[in-house]
Amino acid sequence: MRRSDSRSAAARSTRAARSLGIRAALFDVDGVLADTARLHTAAWRRLADEEGLPFDDRLADQLRGVSREESLRRILNGRQVSDSDFRAMTDRKNAYYQEFVARLTGEDALPGARVLLEDLADEGITCAAVSISRNARQVLAQLELSPLLKVIIDGNDAAQSRTGLDRYLLAAAALRCDPRKCVVFEDSTAGISMARRAGMVTIGLGDPRRLAAADLIFDSLRGVSGRLLLRWLETLRNGESHGASKASCPSAKITV
Ligand code: G6P
Ligand code: MG
Repeated sequence: MRRSDSRSAAARSTRAARSLGIRAALFDVDGVLADTARLHTAAWRRLADEEGLPFDDRLADQLRGVSREESLRRILNGRQVSDSDFRAMTDRKNAYYQEFVARLTGEDALPGARVLLEDLADEGITCAAVSISRNARQVLAQLELSPLLKVIIDGNDAAQSRTGLDRYLLAAAALRCDPRKCVVFEDSTAGISMARRAGMVTIGLGDPRRLAAADLIFDSLRGVSGRLLLRWLETLRNGESHGASKASCPSAKITV
């Protein structure tokens, strides 16, 4: 494609994005951009084994998008510990997790993540990362994804927010973007419901049983281009205007 052709294609796509109203894409980090959900799991499993606490894959899945402290409460499952032991355990889990994070490289971005971020920029859509994790900035730096993100909201920002806004609304405010013009990519039940409450379009990544509340569900970001995304969102909008709760999308990758 000649440069002028690619410029006019980009201009057409930007117009398409504007006509759909989508201006920003907000990406969760763990399990969406970064292959780190398995590292959180490995760190919790190590702690649980040391403490003689039961831990299985089902519990691990239920901890996606759940804060460090709430995760430990669920693992303790009613076992009483002192505040200082509780704190020592969350610190120990975090130390294990940070050991794993220190070894991450650009190769650990999830398939399709980098390409989609680059593609969306070409489509005129601003990208941000939004995470509950206090380690998210470090993870994005290790994966060399930070330069592709206009705004990064992590667990520290949300905790320190004086506005009381949740992390998605904080990101929309930082981007000066109407929340209804944001599309959110999330792999957790908790994240999808928070993004919905913020009035955003939601795309779940992974197991449909976990993500039933999302507007669209993809297996992963692999093969998702900016242009396809806009087409699916258009289908969603048309479906909604006819009273359907979910779009029917032209891809086997998608559950609706
Ligand atoms: C993400 C992960 C959770 C993790 C939480 C807090 O949402 O999905 O598994 O517990 O972040 O992460 P942190 O790095 O602050 O312990
Ligand atoms: Mg996640």
